[in-house]
Amino acid sequence: ALKIVTIGGGSSYTPELIEGYIKRQAQLAIKEIWLVDIPEGEQKLNVVGAMAKRMVKAAGLDWEVHLTLDRRAALKDADFVSTQFRVGLLEARVKDERIPGSYGLLGQETNGAGGIFKALRTIPVILDIVKDMKELCPNAWLINFTNPSGIITEAIQHYGQWNKVIGLCNVPVMAMINEPALINKELKDLTYKFAGIDHFHWHRVWDNTGKEVTMDIINQIYADKNNGLPKNIFDISFFREQLEQMKMIPCGYHRYYYRQTEMLEHSLEEFKNNATRAQEVMRIEHELFTLYQDPHLDYKPKQLAERGGAHYSDAACEAIASIYADKKTHMVVSTLNKGAIPDLPSDHTVEVSAQIGATGAIPMTFGHFQPAERGWIQLMKNMELVITQAAVTGDYGTALQAFIINPLIPSGRHAKNLLDEMLVANKRYLPQF
Ligand code: NAD
Ligand code: G6P
Ligand code: MN
Ligand code: MN
Repeated sequence: ALKIVTIGGGSSYTPELIEGYIKRQAQLAIKEIWLVDIPEGEQKLNVVGAMAKRMVKAAGLDWEVHLTLDRRAALKDADFVSTQFRVGLLEARVKDERIPGSYGLLGQETNGAGGIFKALRTIPVILDIVKDMKELCPNAWLINFTNPSGIITEAIQHYGQWNKVIGLCNVPVMAMINEPALINKELKDLTYKFAGIDHFHWHRVWDNTGKEVTMDIINQIYADKNNGLPKNIFDISFFREQLEQMKMIPCGYHRYYYRQTEMLEHSLEEFKNNATRAQEVMRIEHELFTLYQDPHLDYKPKQLAERGGAHYSDAACEAIASIYADKKTHMVVSTLNKGAIPDLPSDHTVEVSAQIGATGAIPMTFGHFQPAERGWIQLMKNMELVITQAAVTGDYGTALQAFIINPLIPSGRHAKNLLDEMLVANKRYLPQF
């Protein structure tokens, strides 16, 4: 019988996770679900934890749902550990968005200076969790959602030396939910191949006769404007001529790079209006937790779809079920490259199509990129390596290198001043610096 632990259990996404387990009750012999949080999150944990218990009860299941602030007690003999925590809470995200904004730069949860600082705050905590897991549940699988998901997974594998990990994101899930209908197909009749890194991958698609349909999907995206974009990303179209040359579908986050000017303008508009995404998320979260407090609510409310990460917990449940029941499903995950993308080092983390079963993820070969995409992906992957190195060593020069190499932070005086200001603003969560 399974013991499943979720770190950051007070998250408003937790009902989606519980819904995912309930949906897969026949595949998962669950005995205990442990939701772990910290004192600052205790109130949220209690509200969403009570909601989780109601959902389990309404489904007629006898699973135990434990709420705790004691991470080590939760981890003891766990089979699966999923992570969805936010070091520094939403307050830290407000700073990640607003401090770069005050320099006229993009403020975003996983990109630019904000994404770098989210990694610097989170990596010490995740490596601590890995240390606990080595001692308390050495056979468990770690399913990571904590952002920046690809960079955190890289740190877990490279510095934590822990390979029983799957990194996840909802962006590929949303593409695969949305796109088949655009070309009047069903997902089961299509073959998807993704490759890149988290929030910076591309994909190609084939139909059941083996014919590539990538361009058909691209054409429909331009015709319908329905591109399966997560709620947190402002919708500006890619240049059609660029996609025709590329012959791949970029992920939603590529627009921060391919339409940098327009995305920055939009972001600064939000900054000026005190309407950054973190501020918006605070409003949505308040609405969600008001609903969760209703003692009669025992199902995931539709308002959760307002969050950018919708469907992400479902991916976590599917990964767990696929490993546990050796389902050999196709999922897009952050895992060791092992040659799947020959343009990137084989012993580092990439986000690719993989087969998920009892041994974890087996990445599918994607092959070489054309020069433009190769240039981007090598820059972005190496930037991730600089960030993880900075996070582990606490070296100022390495952090400065990360800022300078990041394409969304113009190098020079501003980059250094911004870094200095963000180091001070995040001091409490950066013990390594
Ligand atoms: P949130 O602000 O609700 O935080 C979740 C919980 O984490 C909170 O209850 C908080 O108290 C707790 N927490 C903070 N520090 C902790 C620690 N050291 N140990 C245990 N718990 C801790 O966040 P959210 O909006 O639900 O997002 C959670 C995480 O998931 C974030 O890192 C977010 O970026 C990430 N996320 C990832 C994806 C993806 O595609 N991979 C999608 C959505 C969200
Ligand atoms: C999705 C992403 C996450 C991202 C999140 C933000 O786009 O895949 O990685 O950070 O949504 O959602 P939020 O509702 O918190 O802005
Ligand atoms: Mn994501
Ligand atoms: Mn730069």
